[in-house]
Amino acid sequence: MTPDFYSRLPKAELHLHIEGSLEPELMFALSRRNRIAIPFASVDDIRAAYRFTDLQSFLDIYYAGAAVLQTEEDFHDLAAAYFDRAAADGVVHAEIFFDPQTHTHRGIPMGVVLDGLFAAIEGARSRHGMTVELILSYLRHLDEEDAFATLRAAEPWLDRIVGVGLDSSERGNPPAKFARVFAASRERGLKLCCHAGEEGPPAYIREALDLLAVDRIDHGNRALEDPALVARLARTAMTLTVCPLSNVALRNVDRIEDHPIDRMLDLGLRATVHSDDPAYFGGYIAENYRAVAEARRLSRDAVVTLARNSFLGAFLDDAALADHL
Ligand code: HPA
Ligand code: ZN
Repeated sequence: MTPDFYSRLPKAELHLHIEGSLEPELMFALSRRNRIAIPFASVDDIRAAYRFTDLQSFLDIYYAGAAVLQTEEDFHDLAAAYFDRAAADGVVHAEIFFDPQTHTHRGIPMGVVLDGLFAAIEGARSRHGMTVELILSYLRHLDEEDAFATLRAAEPWLDRIVGVGLDSSERGNPPAKFARVFAASRERGLKLCCHAGEEGPPAYIREALDLLAVDRIDHGNRALEDPALVARLARTAMTLTVCPLSNVALRNVDRIEDHPIDRMLDLGLRATVHSDDPAYFGGYIAENYRAVAEARRLSRDAVVTLARNSFLGAFLDDAALADHL
């Protein structure tokens, strides 16, 4: 397969944190534009800091970087840059996470974040014909009351938000901690996603299924340690949004050559490939496809299955799904 096969293949992006698409160049430019100090002297200095040992070592830098995002225009510029890159990578539909608490805790109103993102989404539609949905992700290192406050703050815009997610520090913050706010989110018609089994144990994936009743699992790699759980995920066709370059960067997989993506497909799991935080982990979605496909010598059929799974796992209605398959 030629390298451009991966970027031409139509696909849905289902696991992308918009704050994780903040490239060092834009971080530096926004730190100047907004006079927000960052602990880096240059773009190269920022890139050099991106050596992670685990999820938390990444999150510390990711939250620090997000501090340069201040205005509606900043959120627009961030997301518009992402949509341009995604379009070049063959993304025709994107369901992207945003982390409101990262911003509201710094005094940035929810409406500033959302108006910037909405403007960029309109640009993605008109410039690229891309459809985009937003997923509001709760930060699991904070308490459930804070998540409830976030849901309340988003109330005026919920008709333009497709679902909620759960991200940030996984270990020690099990899905059970958020059972009530997920139930309240579902009552408001929102779809439910949960990061689980990235660093946390298979039991967290079970909790996401049993206590949160999620529609999608983000990552899910550690399900492979539990054959009964794998069988259940396969039987129920639960989508797992897998992020190969993230797994390597955060040391959940030693080398890309060791990535279990083909094992997941062979076990009948509905695995898909996504980019997580591409500005930090070394590649956008097409590069994730290319890297894992070459390292694991995936067949063309397997790569096409991954892309097809991305549409099957998306929150598309039947007519839109039929258009994409
Ligand atoms: N895992 C958990 N939380 C996150 C991530 C991730 O990879 N990226 C942004 N928030
Ligand atoms: Zn993620």
